[in-house]
Amino acid sequence: MKKDKIIEKNIEAAVDAEETVTAETEATPSEADMMREYESEIIAQSRDHHNGPLLLSARDVCVKFNLRGQILTAIRKASLDVYEGETLAIVGESGSGKSVFTKTFIGMLDKNGTIDGGELFFHGEDMAKYDTEAQWLKVRGKKIAMVFQDPMTSLNPVRTIGEQIAEVIMWHFGKSHDEAKKETIELLRKVGIHDPEARYKQYPGEFSGGMRQRVVIATAIACRPEILICDEPTTALDVTVQAQVLDLIKSLQKELKMSVVFITHDLGVVANVADWVAVMYAGKIVEYGTADDIFYDPRHPYTWALLSSMPDLETTEKLDAIPGSPPNMVCPPVGDAFAERNKYAMRIDFEMQPPQFAVSDTHWAATWLLHPDAPKVEVPKIITDRIERMRKAGGND
Ligand SMILES: Nc1ncnc2c1ncn2[C@@H]1O[C@H](COP(=O)(O)OP(=O)(O)O)[C@@H](O)[C@H]1O
Ligand SMILES: [Mg+2]
Repeated sequence: MKKDKIIEKNIEAAVDAEETVTAETEATPSEADMMREYESEIIAQSRDHHNGPLLLSARDVCVKFNLRGQILTAIRKASLDVYEGETLAIVGESGSGKSVFTKTFIGMLDKNGTIDGGELFFHGEDMAKYDTEAQWLKVRGKKIAMVFQDPMTSLNPVRTIGEQIAEVIMWHFGKSHDEAKKETIELLRKVGIHDPEARYKQYPGEFSGGMRQRVVIATAIACRPEILICDEPTTALDVTVQAQVLDLIKSLQKELKMSVVFITHDLGVVANVADWVAVMYAGKIVEYGTADDIFYDPRHPYTWALLSSMPDLETTEKLDAIPGSPPNMVCPPVGDAFAERNKYAMRIDFEMQPPQFAVSDTHWAATWLLHPDAPKVEVPKIITDRIERMRKAGGND
């Protein structure tokens, strides 16, 4: 009741596009606290719909970069929960903050970046408060591992594949060289590398792009991490190899019961891998739901835009590229960051950031269109047509 009041009070009747808006842009501290509680509640309400316990909880994470004296706000109060044994996809255009946000989970921000607020709860600790490398070393690689787009960023070109993986095993588990070698060969086999005994002795340069990415995945799972973050792991690969690497990640996720956070700019990839989807724009999560929620009942105009720019097998109409470009994060917009590019934007979109509105227990979106007083906007035809095709094709799987 109280939280509804707060939203009401903040927006008055402002969502009526006809009316002049006098939105308060700054909430008083107690209102801000209540808003925070309300948003946290909306994020947490899906808890009964997950298969396992909550593992990692990011709340209101902010990240700033110092760019030759200018401050760029890359992440603006992003909140997200990662549950055990599930695949969560984070999707959004390039530059929306997917990599930066997830790098905070393993303490790997570039040197000019800092976590400037928020919490990262993992196993009862707030990792946002970590200030020594020793603290991160207990998490990074061991409990949360990351696979990047370009496998060569993780591989040393002048050392053999086998020795690189074996070293990780020796370092983390204190195993002998012989034991580590045996395990490495098993891991290489597990990720689908043929003749692993011979491949063990080869250098990264002797592997194709797809095979290198398999090696990086083998290294990442060597420590049996609880969470594997895959940051555009297939973007640099050609389409057939992409599908194979996706299948590999899916089967490893099942076998090892890991949580996978899968980052991509391509919603088409998401349909094949994700249980849950978080849509990110301009440093915020703007919509969250099950894969079905996002594909069959998308609510945020940005998600509509992403969906309509995604090719599918039967696309006959010209694809709508999302007009315009993401905002300059040196001076982020005061309102909804998507407003400038959103043909459904109302006046309030330019003046105040929308709160998260619950669509169902599993689904929420931060758009003023979901306010009860907002004018009714029909989902664009290109989206309803696509949904129709997806339903006919028999769903995501
Ligand atoms: N080291 C850095 N210094 C300054 N800005 C950065 C740095 N790293 C990332 N950014 C900025 O942070 C924003 C989010 O970037 P990123 O997380 O890489 O996007 P995505 O992974 O979604 O493509 C972008 O505006 C990007 O330019
Ligand atoms: Mg990225």
